[in-house]
Amino acid sequence: MEIDAANGKLGVMLVGLGAVATTFIAGVENVRRGRALPIGSLSQMATIRLGKRTEKRMPKIKEFVPLADLNDLVFVAWDPIPDDAYTAAVKAGVLDQHEHLEPIKPFLQSIKPMPAVFDQYYVKRLQGTNVKRGKNKRELAEQLREDMRNFKQSAKLDRLVVVWCASTEVFLTPGPAHQSLAAFETAMEQNDQSIAPSMIYAYAALMENIPFANGAPNLTVDLPVMERLAEERHVPIGGKDFKTGQTMMKSVLAPAFKARMLGLSGWYSTNILGNRDGEVLDDPESFKTKEESKLGLLEHILQPELYPELYGKVYHKVRINYYPPRGDNKEGWDNIDIFGWLGYPMQIKVDFLCRDSILAAPIVLDLALFFDLAARAGLSGIQEWLSFYFKSPQFAQGLYAEHDLFIQQTKLKNTLRWMMGEEQITHLGIEYYEYAEK
Ligand SMILES: NC(=O)c1ccc[n+]([C@@H]2O[C@H](COP(=O)([O-])OP(=O)(O)OC[C@H]3O[C@@H](n4cnc5c(N)ncnc54)[C@H](O)[C@@H]3O)[C@@H](O)[C@H]2O)c1
Repeated sequence: MEIDAANGKLGVMLVGLGAVATTFIAGVENVRRGRALPIGSLSQMATIRLGKRTEKRMPKIKEFVPLADLNDLVFVAWDPIPDDAYTAAVKAGVLDQHEHLEPIKPFLQSIKPMPAVFDQYYVKRLQGTNVKRGKNKRELAEQLREDMRNFKQSAKLDRLVVVWCASTEVFLTPGPAHQSLAAFETAMEQNDQSIAPSMIYAYAALMENIPFANGAPNLTVDLPVMERLAEERHVPIGGKDFKTGQTMMKSVLAPAFKARMLGLSGWYSTNILGNRDGEVLDDPESFKTKEESKLGLLEHILQPELYPELYGKVYHKVRINYYPPRGDNKEGWDNIDIFGWLGYPMQIKVDFLCRDSILAAPIVLDLALFFDLAARAGLSGIQEWLSFYFKSPQFAQGLYAEHDLFIQQTKLKNTLRWMMGEEQITHLGIEYYEYAEK
């Protein structure tokens, strides 16, 4: 496979300049200055095994595939709240101001959000003043396209990538406006309510041939019109919803139960968090979007249709409660009721005192770099190999999502091997033993 070299600069356009986006930007800048390590990022920290175990070839992923260098990343964002990245990061309260924000203050202050395409109908708990005006949604999309072109030109960039790090929008289902480009464009002109702001960004990016990754559970690029547009324009897309704390743990634990054929009768997950994301999710309509995204995976992993005795009657509940004192330091608490041999019940309790944006920031970095890689490798449409990073990974029609974190990781690494013309690793390993010769 021919992969264009990562020459020149990569513009990372972030929709939303809140907790996740500022933690990501400030993090990359601290890493670039040698002040911290990019912990949690596969693209920066992980190695990849090549060939047989006896060959001992284990390069770092970033040395194996041609990824953009961190020094070549240039950031920009849109947000309806006009705070620059420094002010937004201080307000988000994720990173230590003295340790990680003050030393890079002028850099962060130089990142001022462009006016957003924003409508409070889709995010009830937010009010913004830094908002684009236009006679209809199509005109707003044109303004976004202009922002993209201007950024590329003024910052002398080689390539662009867009990552949605903005608030979770209200729950929507795909409708007639999302089935074809003509219907979508007409709906934009008519200011149809089924066209959410996130879809306008996605449309603008695809029309500019820019890869788009969606970190929230909104539909955004998970629509027939976007999938087709991405294929037609040869642009990679992916989503939805960064897989960070509680869901990441679920996608590790549930496969373990299934691997050992242990039954599951119930899984109760609750979260308390006090950041702006928590406030937005306190609105039932935004929560519904998140809930759908968090609920789907157990059923896919456990396959109750194949194992009705083990997983036919799982009671799965997810709650998110806004609790301001906690800020970004969420507590995700899981009570898991499992059963074993002869049906005897057991319980597991997981109390994950995590930091939401600390877990999400390296995912933003990896997605930006891998989507840019995908584009340079000529891959288009849904990038299922990046399911590793998403709570509700997008998949092609006729398939189902792969949620198991370790299958996702194998898929990701095998895709990198495939891109670089290396052998796939099947873990068969029979060739190491004598009887394989006979
Ligand atoms: N942190 C995590 O672990 C995690 C995991 C999965 C998904 N997410 C999702 O990532 C998103 C960002 O999370 P966060 O903690 O940074 O939230 P945040 O509230 O701190 O930041 C979101 C920002 O998006 C802005 N925004 C809202 N609508 C916009 C629009 N139409 N255009 C541009 N900007 C807009 C808001 O003004 C805000 O500044 C949320 O949707 C969240 O659900 C986060």
